[in-house]
Amino acid sequence: MKETVGRGRWASKAGFVLAAAGSAVGLGNLWKFPYMAGENGGAVFVLVYLLILVLIGMTVMLAELTVGRHTQLDALGAYKKLSAKWAWVGGMGVLCAFLIMAFYTVVGGWAIKYFIGSFASAAANIDFVGFITAPVEPIIYTLIFCLLTWVIVFYGIGGGIEKASKIMMPLLFIFIIIIAIRSCTLPGAGAGLDYYLNPDLSKINGGVILAAMGQVFFSLSLGMGCMITYGSYLDRNSSLTQSAWMIPALDTGVAFLAGLAIFPAVFAFGMQPDAGPGLMFGILPQVFAQMPAGTFFAAIFFLLVIFAALTSAISLLEVVTAYFVDEKAIKRSGASIIGILGIFILAVPCSLSMGSLAGVHIIPEIAAMNIPAMGFFDAFDFLTSKVMLPLGGLLLCIFVGWVWGTDNAINEITDGGFSSFSLAGIWSVLVKFVAPIAIFLVFLSGFGVI
Ligand code: PFF
Repeated sequence: MKETVGRGRWASKAGFVLAAAGSAVGLGNLWKFPYMAGENGGAVFVLVYLLILVLIGMTVMLAELTVGRHTQLDALGAYKKLSAKWAWVGGMGVLCAFLIMAFYTVVGGWAIKYFIGSFASAAANIDFVGFITAPVEPIIYTLIFCLLTWVIVFYGIGGGIEKASKIMMPLLFIFIIIIAIRSCTLPGAGAGLDYYLNPDLSKINGGVILAAMGQVFFSLSLGMGCMITYGSYLDRNSSLTQSAWMIPALDTGVAFLAGLAIFPAVFAFGMQPDAGPGLMFGILPQVFAQMPAGTFFAAIFFLLVIFAALTSAISLLEVVTAYFVDEKAIKRSGASIIGILGIFILAVPCSLSMGSLAGVHIIPEIAAMNIPAMGFFDAFDFLTSKVMLPLGGLLLCIFVGWVWGTDNAINEITDGGFSSFSLAGIWSVLVKFVAPIAIFLVFLSGFGVI
């Protein structure tokens, strides 16, 4: 059997859950989920998100983990082993990892700036727009974030990140709860809670549904073979079904709390919920400034953001590194360097598209399909979250449902009938019919076809 070379080894079963949860919980939860909810009607977005999470997210999560554990291979290798004709779907996942990392590392860099900034003066004093539109400084922070990610991947993950995750992930959870409580008890917080928790169903439209679906895939690290890769490190006596609901539950918990930390504060300070990517960076430092020992809390919070971002970024760089190791027979050291170099080269125009390259649109406006003109950062985000990841999920469902077959999959999930899977029948219907059809319909409505 082909060795699962160079992706690191997890010392324990808990190590897998932590690794997978570490991949899932990241900037997508803390930075993206709140601003996406803010731009897409608040509670309506949250409601649609939860629905898609249960129907599609958990279904695809179980399918990816099952393919991974069965094949014990990386994404591309896994597809190839089960059906050579499908290898390109794994290849699309690798491309996706490059494109996501290009903007992910930029935002990771912003978090480093805020972490350092909270010592220097106070994070609340940083002019967010001034900072991200500058030509050089954000790129330096992006580079630092790239180097941190690379070092971890280069040296392997078994000891370091697994141990660190065990401390940092629970800390992040506790911190976000403290911040959420502070935010919810600010005078004037009620309007924010209302916006976040009280859905106005008239605001549902194709755009909101597509945005929510893209966010489910992004946040759960689905649709690009990341969970296939992580599933490939599992041994047979691990419970796939348990992982398939625990990881999404943890991930959603953190995202939900991030919203509770941000929206009440947004309204309490009279700011706009649809401020976009600057929401977390603009709001939370203001909340900290209202707290005793605010500087200290801000520093710890941004450290945890950096950590959450890193555990996701390494999983993305792993997908790229594993591709070069397995498919191009390049050594791990060289493979990770090629990966991170390529990523950094793509990250530079992403960062510049906030400022000096703001006018350069790599995707033109297509009004009939609700697509606005976009620069590098927005285009990579759009292409991955709203197109490639859901498409990857759609293809995975067709692959598992109809090519490899749900009987084979269920056989893997139950260890050949040894353990029970009471929802097997429902899951089969979800994989074969409901999830692929739902993803297809969301595409049609999101792009204005229906
Ligand atoms: N799930 C990560 C987050 O929410 O920040 C981002 C991500 C990681 C997406 C790994 C895709 C992936 F394969």
